Amino acid sequence: MTLSRRKTLVLIGGGAVLAATVAVGYDVTRLPRDAMRPWDMAGQYADPRMRALSWAILAPNPHNLQPWKVDLSVRDQVTLFVDTDRLLPQTDPFSRQIVIGLGCFLEVLRMAALADGLEMTSDLFPEGSDPLRVDARPVAVCRFSPTDAAPDPLFAFVPSRRSLKEPYDTSRPVPADALDRIAAATRHFGMGHATEPGLVQEMRDLSTDAIRIEFATERTLRESVELFRIGHREVNANPDGLEFMGPMFETLRVFGLFTREASLDPEGLVARSADAAFVENMQTAMGHIWQVTPTNTRLDQIRAGMDWVRINLAATELGIGMQPLSQALQEYPEMSELYDEIHRRLAPEGGTVQMWARVGYGPEILATPRWPLEAKIVGGTG
Ligand SMILES: Cc1cc2nc3c(=O)[nH]c(=O)nc-3n(C[C@H](O)[C@H](O)[C@H](O)COP(=O)(O)O)c2cc1C
Repeated sequence: MTLSRRKTLVLIGGGAVLAATVAVGYDVTRLPRDAMRPWDMAGQYADPRMRALSWAILAPNPHNLQPWKVDLSVRDQVTLFVDTDRLLPQTDPFSRQIVIGLGCFLEVLRMAALADGLEMTSDLFPEGSDPLRVDARPVAVCRFSPTDAAPDPLFAFVPSRRSLKEPYDTSRPVPADALDRIAAATRHFGMGHATEPGLVQEMRDLSTDAIRIEFATERTLRESVELFRIGHREVNANPDGLEFMGPMFETLRVFGLFTREASLDPEGLVARSADAAFVENMQTAMGHIWQVTPTNTRLDQIRAGMDWVRINLAATELGIGMQPLSQALQEYPEMSELYDEIHRRLAPEGGTVQMWARVGYGPEILATPRWPLEAKIVGGTG
């Protein structure tokens, strides 16, 4: 949800903002150091479970809600729960995306343990699950035992993996064989891709239409706006959600131009800037990728997440950026026409499109904030 800096500057008047940045000085150039510390703490724990978990919390997850909780009270075991206070009821009413994020978490946990000489076995939803809502039952019980197996080569890319939410370089096509290599990293469902310009343009337009529906629907827009963290102080206080950091956003905040309230005005500056930024992002897609599962069980969603983070890591190795385009996949009435359209295209024989993303080459960006691991532990450390 990062607004493209360049576009926002253009719309708001770059000169004025730059002058104001100089005027308010040091404060606006601060980075949210506490919120970024978990990236430095990864691997720095004595307990092997904590060590592996310190990597898992860096996994991608919807709106960076980090909806995981872990119980370590049983020796040599990690029990994973979904944090039911961290859901997206408007845009993700059945928590399908939340569960995909937990699959990403489990796959990074497995890779981190393996890099430490431990094989992880998981019992998924040992007490069952509800397809319509997530609840307090465990998502996974993970156990660890020594192994001589080689580490997963993708693990090396966990620190540099990103969701790249900036415009992509339209002079650099993404080779289809690079996407084949990325698809080969999946272990459960494979990955589809398109780079043919006509098809890519149709998908650019479809993703643009979908984001506009989300913005035009008051309750779905509000769900995102409530997760805005504007400036380093808010990001440090709540290192999750949709963060807006850096001198430009700090300056807009200082001058009262960028607030949550202002963001809800469909004709306002923030809405117009966001629309321009999103259109630029969608329209610079240089290819699209997707994942389809034959059914849509909770296990499918977990495994799609396991595959998704592997896709993201394999792309990182090749220097290819990707941004999920979840809007058209969301299950609420205003989106149903585009939901059907994307399913007709990407899953013509049936099934559920779990992830759809744009790919391309883009700038290097900072990592996103994370809550410290300690904030995610419930029920003791065994
Ligand atoms: C299931 C799922 C859905 C996501 N959907 C979107 C999306 O629609 N748009 C977007 O920009 N990012 C999306 N993301 C990426 C998250 O916003 C991102 O993982 C999170 O902010 C953390 O940032 P990071 O991946 O760079 O560490 C999605 C991620 C997951 C796992």
